[in-house]
Amino acid sequence: MRDMASFIEQMPKAELHMHIEGVLEPELKFEMAARNGIELPYDSVDDPAAMYDFDDLPTFLDARYEGDTVLITEADFYDLGMAYYSTVARENLVYAEIFFDPQAHTTRGVEFSTVIEGLHRAQVDAESRLGIESHLIMCFLRDHSAESAHQALEQAAPYRDRIIGVGLDSDEQGNPPSKFADVFAAAAAEGFRLTMHCDVDQENSVNHIWQAIDDIGVERIDHGVNALEERALIGEFVNRRIGQTVCPISNRYVVADSRSRDIKQMLDEGMLPTVNSDDPAYFRGYMNDNLAVAQSDGGLTAAEVGQLMRNAFTMSWTTDTRKQAYLAALDEYLAASAGLDPD
Ligand code: ADE
Ligand code: ZN
Repeated sequence: MRDMASFIEQMPKAELHMHIEGVLEPELKFEMAARNGIELPYDSVDDPAAMYDFDDLPTFLDARYEGDTVLITEADFYDLGMAYYSTVARENLVYAEIFFDPQAHTTRGVEFSTVIEGLHRAQVDAESRLGIESHLIMCFLRDHSAESAHQALEQAAPYRDRIIGVGLDSDEQGNPPSKFADVFAAAAAEGFRLTMHCDVDQENSVNHIWQAIDDIGVERIDHGVNALEERALIGEFVNRRIGQTVCPISNRYVVADSRSRDIKQMLDEGMLPTVNSDDPAYFRGYMNDNLAVAQSDGGLTAAEVGQLMRNAFTMSWTTDTRKQAYLAALDEYLAASAGLDPD
């Protein structure tokens, strides 16, 4: 019998909620700043101010967008992608759906094509060298205008086959899903899959979740933990099989609790929660750490941790053939690990 840590480490894994800009570790940030001739407001990674410091969503987003300013060239986006893939390859991650925020770059004068070319090249290399399948999800920044989101969708048109879906992120306060109903409808008509953030404990969280599933018609909600507050909403998630991408370590920073007991309740209710790293360099934890926190804070059994991973592959947007293959490999792994008890 293996212990829980190695059970998690060796499990074949997928994640569906990771922002590629959130992979910028301080060392890489300094390296990119130096090669792009950008002055950072601190001298080295050893300066405490250079570390990421925040305690809610707006202060996190300030740090994130400040970090983004070192990303300028195609090579920067390639290196960012490869930094992620090489780290998670060591964690037995085999599949990722990756968010990127084009407006965070185009508004700084970086071309949409620069971002997508660099990320795409990393995807191709990750698949051939590391055996990791990944897909890109383009997020609209919800604190920008709906018009700006439409422009981003237009810029994506030449790259339609390189982007699997659209999402919505950034500051939720005062920026409900309904603000983006038209652009999501346009994206759906073009064949993009739909997801969006409903961050934890926001003003009108429950109402935003209803809008996302009823008015927008998303297949998944990113976070969406507050769905547990309404019995009718729980029923909708179960009946319509809407996935949830929960991010335990991110939650610790942003709402001071990993909300892993909520993950346990979602599993008990028959909902489809998954565990994800969100912005792993900023929140100091990749997939294995997030699963370990969910397991220990939520008091999850090995079978429940396995169910979280089954949910991730099931709710992924890969082809049915690949999905079945991933699920078969996971089930084989779980069967070989049967009898394991959390310690
Ligand atoms: N941007 C990056 N991570 C985010 C999150 N978890 N919520 C909202 N916007 C984000
Ligand atoms: Zn997120």
